[in-house]
Amino acid sequence: MISQALRDARRYEEILEKTIEESQRPLFHLTPRCGWMNDPNGFSIYDGFYHLFYQYYPYSSKWGPMHWGHAISRDLLHWNYLPAVLAPDQLYDQKGCFSGSAITMEDGRQLLMYTSVGETMDPAGFDSGIQTQSIAIGDGFEYEKYSGNPVITEADLPEGASRFDFRDPKVWKAEDGTYVAAVANRPADGSGSVLLFKSTDLLHWKYWRVLASNRGRFGSMWECPDFFSLDGKQVLLVSPQDMHPSGFEYHNGNGTLCLIGTYDEKTGEFVEESNQAIDYGIDFYAPQTIETPDGHRVMIGWMQNWDACAIRAPYEKWAGQMSLPRELSIRNGRLYQSPWRGLSSLYTDTVIHKNVLVSGLDEVVLEGISGRCLDMTVRIRPADREKIFHKISIRFAQKDNLRTGVSFRPYEQTVKIDRKYSGSCRAIVHQRRCLVPGSRCGEITLRLILDRYSAEIFINDGEYVMTASLFTPLEAERICFFADGDAVIDVEKHGIG
Ligand code: FRU
Repeated sequence: MISQALRDARRYEEILEKTIEESQRPLFHLTPRCGWMNDPNGFSIYDGFYHLFYQYYPYSSKWGPMHWGHAISRDLLHWNYLPAVLAPDQLYDQKGCFSGSAITMEDGRQLLMYTSVGETMDPAGFDSGIQTQSIAIGDGFEYEKYSGNPVITEADLPEGASRFDFRDPKVWKAEDGTYVAAVANRPADGSGSVLLFKSTDLLHWKYWRVLASNRGRFGSMWECPDFFSLDGKQVLLVSPQDMHPSGFEYHNGNGTLCLIGTYDEKTGEFVEESNQAIDYGIDFYAPQTIETPDGHRVMIGWMQNWDACAIRAPYEKWAGQMSLPRELSIRNGRLYQSPWRGLSSLYTDTVIHKNVLVSGLDEVVLEGISGRCLDMTVRIRPADREKIFHKISIRFAQKDNLRTGVSFRPYEQTVKIDRKYSGSCRAIVHQRRCLVPGSRCGEITLRLILDRYSAEIFINDGEYVMTASLFTPLEAERICFFADGDAVIDVEKHGIG
């Protein structure tokens, strides 16, 4: 039975979608069918399609009582909308169907596990809502909430765990055939942790143990865990709130964190070996991953930042977009990301320029190098290794006073993204810098993936990534290069269409 709330949402999105022109959306990044989108949810492969659900409030371009939107794709680049699957229509989730994940059941149906937020006051008198975990089961199109919901409640929590900050279950099948769910929680110390729960049938769950704890190290509450093996290691991705910067590694506010270590499936023990940010730009949060049939671990994140949502004007018909799918690997103990290999299927033209001298602050404009939808790799080196340039900049989405820039300063070993002049009129973060150790010699490779409303910059083959959304008018499509000093560049640009 479809509830009235879900029926209303579906009717609304179907009508609103028609009023949004394709040209007003990104070309190959997913946006909400209408209204507001945040975290990716239930990213999965089911019945021959990639499925991506998302945190969704169809009725406004601002966050509201959460629904789950739904889109499917064959190539992770062209998405088709399906009707919304979850609406806050039960007593236990009337304040929202928060983030969660998906898994295929033994009988072939798909199960969604999400955080159900009910109506309750917290001890301080704030109307925060109790968070429990619930289930909906379906066929890739329609999903029915389980009559035994919620399946994990405050009664299952260990001592000191919060029932108000208990969310975002990531569920998987262990080697021994049992199921495990990792759920974020706020323990008594006020910072984040990830708890593990076990089940044999996906319906009945028991608390198992703490997988990892923040202990005040990385922000406060951790949100949206993902947990998987990769290249002989185990990776925990979480998105901490209230981060403090630590050198160039983490920045203020909502951030991303990757813990790499080892995991013992039998005991559930995760031993951390290293930590790093996932993305060093402005807009990236709450990623989820899948393993593709040919064995690639692919990640998609919300290409927005809670503290900087104001970049999108409130009257727009959609707000929020997903990042490009990114293939993950571990090299030299670091998480690397490269753009989803399927992107090359969208290439239109290819333009190559080799050994171009960029010198003395004179703008260099190259034939065939412009546009807002493209994949462009720029290999940079000094013209004279004895006299390294101070800075080289690439400006894009440029017209008159509009532009966004990415610049590299070898003496600082930093790359900076700057969208101050992208057309934003809000007092939010517009710049971020990333430290790239080993770049003092003046050599670096920057791969820019531009879509109409975003820039994703992969540094040195994905060792570091910087992501930013930008809402510059689309006619701003000039690209130019300039340097303080003498640099030489090779440019390879593929148009995307
Ligand atoms: C992360 C998050 C999740 C929560 C969802 C609510 O961005 O805060 O923890 O489930 O958004 O929309």
